[in-house]
Amino acid sequence: MRRKTSDCLATVKDTALDLVLNALEAIRDRGEKLPSASRISLDRLGRQVIVDAPASRAQPTSNKEALLAPIRARVSVCEKCPHLARTRTQTVFGVGNPDAELMFIGEAPGADEDARGEPFVGRAGQLLTRIIETMGFARSEVYIANVLKCRPDMPRGSAGNRPPTPVEMQTCLPYLTEQIDIIQPKVLVALGATAVEGLLGTRGVMRELRGKWHSHQDTPLMITYHPSYLLRNQSPSEKRKVWEDMLQVLERLERPITEKQRNYFR
Ligand code: URA
Ligand code: URA
Repeated sequence: MRRKTSDCLATVKDTALDLVLNALEAIRDRGEKLPSASRISLDRLGRQVIVDAPASRAQPTSNKEALLAPIRARVSVCEKCPHLARTRTQTVFGVGNPDAELMFIGEAPGADEDARGEPFVGRAGQLLTRIIETMGFARSEVYIANVLKCRPDMPRGSAGNRPPTPVEMQTCLPYLTEQIDIIQPKVLVALGATAVEGLLGTRGVMRELRGKWHSHQDTPLMITYHPSYLLRNQSPSEKRKVWEDMLQVLERLERPITEKQRNYFR
């Protein structure tokens, strides 16, 4: 469909240029003064049409959204973890810009995310959104996804969250890998230990892993603390650490950083 539309537009453009060329030629042939168009410039203009045409047909919009759609559809009916398929309200695929340069990876949906169908919308999510905005991005400019697309089930009547099991992670990870392969962000950010385990396959000490560049396939990966860790541990020094990690991300993306941004949480 898209190709047809662009071919059609190109035809219209060619027709329009033909009209312009004909009009200029008519003016020249009648010997009128303005506008002047020599044979050489008309010839150049004519050639320009041919040279420009392929570029003018290129669509500025990418097809990443279209590539993500079938994966989202498969996820929405996934029953590979029957216990999670039974207990979830809905799957939580991911949110944001499919053309994002920056992609955040969290752990799994919590109760709020399970209810809304969108990652990071609860308390930790609000903090993540603030971090993203402080970096100078709108939430809608980046992409946000989790290792697990279902909320980890909790025993009847118990509140809170549990981390995904290794089997749940192995089962769900191919979806995340597909998302990353399509989006191809310039930088990935792993939020917390579960994201690290999912992306790197290692269970390390967050204190040692964070703040350093790692890589996932060929994509630079920054590891930082999970926003819920910052909610549990309100000390300014921990906030500053996450912020320093995000400054490294901004540098890697070659984004401008203001003096004010450099000094946040100091
Ligand atoms: N924590 C996560 O890791 N992901 C969410 O989507 C929400 C909270
Ligand atoms: N420990 C974790 O598991 N995650 C964090 O983000 C910080 C400490």
